[in-house]
Amino acid sequence: MTTKNKKELIVSAIENGTVIDHIPVNAVLKVIKILGIDAHQDEVLIGMNLESKKYGRKGIIKVRNKYFEKSDLNKIALAAPHATLIVIKDYEVAEKIAVQIPNTIEKIVKCINPNCITNNEEMDTKFSVIEKEPLKIQCHYCEKTMTNIRFTE
Ligand code: CTP
Ligand code: ZN
Repeated sequence: MTTKNKKELIVSAIENGTVIDHIPVNAVLKVIKILGIDAHQDEVLIGMNLESKKYGRKGIIKVRNKYFEKSDLNKIALAAPHATLIVIKDYEVAEKIAVQIPNTIEKIVKCINPNCITNNEEMDTKFSVIEKEPLKIQCHYCEKTMTNIRFTE
């Protein structure tokens, strides 16, 4: 049996839904959180530390009977910049989309400025993306720029 066949046994094919492939192993749980997959009512298959020719080891998430908005999917670009999003219909690959860093980022990232209003009031954060590669973002409220992303809990 080839490696690929073994892999298919570990995380089986889905009939309909979304596959998120090529996730860095340490970002799988973050991606689940960002997309709200932890609240999904149908089957979710997760593989971690799977062999990948391109990336050494990877994570994969398969969400049955769920299709995401492109804007939602782009949020995961911060945690998994090389992820591939695969739309599955009737067991076939219907669409493959590469994630893209969005122009604005809401809620999921924390401002590093301790005096920022977002760190002192109950409110959502908001950032503009100034540069995508390497990533540089600016807080909408205090205008602090940052290159290291810290996710909110
Ligand atoms: N997949 C799935 N269910 C299906 C069809 C595909 O879960 N009914 C998954 C496969 O397991 C794979 C991904 O969707 O992880 C992409 O499928 P495919 O393009 O056939 O695989 P590869 O050619 O290996 O893609 P890549 O080279 O981009 O990794
Ligand atoms: Zn700020």
